[in-house]
Amino acid sequence: MEKKRILTGDRPTGRLHIGHYFGSIKKRVEMQESGLYDPYILIADVQALTDNFNNPEKVRKNVREVAIDYLSCGIDPKKTTIYIQSMIPETAELTVFYSNLVTIARLERNPTVKTEIAQKRDLFGESVTYGFLGYPVSQAADITAFEGELVPVGDDQLPLIEQTREIVRKFNKIYGETLVEPQAVLSSEKRIKGLDGNDKMGKSLGNAIYLSDSEEEITKKVMSAITDPNRIKKETKGNPDICMVAYYHKLFSTKEEVEEVCKECREGKRGCVQCKKQLAKNIADELKPIREKRAYYEAHPEEVDKILIEGTKKARETAKETMKKVKKAMKLDYFE
Ligand code: TRP
Ligand code: SF4
Repeated sequence: MEKKRILTGDRPTGRLHIGHYFGSIKKRVEMQESGLYDPYILIADVQALTDNFNNPEKVRKNVREVAIDYLSCGIDPKKTTIYIQSMIPETAELTVFYSNLVTIARLERNPTVKTEIAQKRDLFGESVTYGFLGYPVSQAADITAFEGELVPVGDDQLPLIEQTREIVRKFNKIYGETLVEPQAVLSSEKRIKGLDGNDKMGKSLGNAIYLSDSEEEITKKVMSAITDPNRIKKETKGNPDICMVAYYHKLFSTKEEVEEVCKECREGKRGCVQCKKQLAKNIADELKPIREKRAYYEAHPEEVDKILIEGTKKARETAKETMKKVKKAMKLDYFE
């Protein structure tokens, strides 16, 4: 049986945090380990530039950081092809071709893009760039260049996959069956909230725990997490349902611990400081193997380079094959 191709990736705008881990990376590692798929993972530097065009240094630096995060989480370069988006010019070419198949109104209606534009007023002011509005087209190129069938992503990416599917259908209708229509694969875990209770964990929100955070950093952050505001003394009966510490205990502590936390909190038999310390330790313990692997790769940058060079080389060959089919379908295969 042909192995199904997986195509997924992230914008290198910062290190990855536990929201990324539970939202998509864990799922990607599981799928990789099942042996049923042929996974590709891209570091989307071109897409990162759409909202960081004025900060190329940041994008460049984070390409390596994200690569190290992937490797530290168990993405195995022997099983998954890791590559850098900008080094695959075919995806830029495809973006131009696909741009005829999508209207500006449709892009403006894309819920993910809409939310992001609203959040990026500082950068875009009243009028968004052509590049940012069009990044879903470039993402469609990323996925289809590799004939990606499955795309394991967080739920914020669903509108982008839907947009890709529309482009694929339109392409195939006009130029003949050529492109593969991808499907999103969601993690079973829900999106993780930030330490402040915000629905999204993010760098710009300052409410994230990074996979690379030290035990001290984790403890400091957990200490700042939002708890039940009514609890002033240990004896005050608390409500773990409105406490972020209890929320994270559910992700990082054993079932027994969670039950104990909730029971003692409700009965006023548990201090918040102790509760937080216990959580910080559990998070630090769970992330320890990731941190240790990170330390290894940080000390061996040449290995990371080699992985990226080889992955990108392999990815380029795959993208070239798709490009041939696309050009033939579009009658652009001159002198062939
Ligand atoms: N949009 C994704 C993000 O915001 C990154 C990305 C770029 C991607 N190309 C992709 C994800 C292709 C999945 C498939 O991080
Ligand atoms: Fe939250 Fe724990 Fe304090 Fe209860 S005891 S409010 S669960 S930190």
